[in-house]
Amino acid sequence: MDEPTPTQKLQPEGEAPDTGTIDRRGFLHKVSTVSAGLTALAVGVPAAGAFVSPALPKKATDDWIKVADDVALIDVGEPVRVNFVKTDQDAWIETRTLNGVWLFTEDGEKFKAYNAKCTHLGCSYVHDKEKKAFYCPCHRGQFDIKTGKVMDGPPPRPLDELEVEVRESAVYVRYRDFRLGIAERVVS
Ligand code: FES
Repeated sequence: MDEPTPTQKLQPEGEAPDTGTIDRRGFLHKVSTVSAGLTALAVGVPAAGAFVSPALPKKATDDWIKVADDVALIDVGEPVRVNFVKTDQDAWIETRTLNGVWLFTEDGEKFKAYNAKCTHLGCSYVHDKEKKAFYCPCHRGQFDIKTGKVMDGPPPRPLDELEVEVRESAVYVRYRDFRLGIAERVVS
């Protein structure tokens, strides 16, 4: 019998020579490999999305806060402080802060709302009935109730006025915090 040359491939007895086409066993093996890959992709994409999404930028949240159920509950000519808890989500960290606004109305229809932090260094100010003004005890800052303007002390700008809306008798305020200690109003 002739010996095969180095370039000839030995074929086991009974098997057809390799012609480059996919046989049944090879075809099934390739199909199962591809489908396993697709399954991994299908499972992996949502899993990856769930893993990554908290770090992606979030769309702006609605900062409107209901501060009074009924306008009739707010005294005319007398400022009232309303406290509320604000929840912020940053990636996986949820923070809750106690915030406040001062509401004031002269006629029960138009409302003023001020961020309850003093614009100097952020202390809470109070309503001084004798002086008929807002008074900050930290450095004796003083503000006009009707306008929020600085009347005395070191605050570099008026109180931070907030947008107010009355919806079906309830009062809503668009809450914002601003950088403290500077003359410009810059959202923080
Ligand atoms: S923090 Fe209010 S006057 Fe300084």
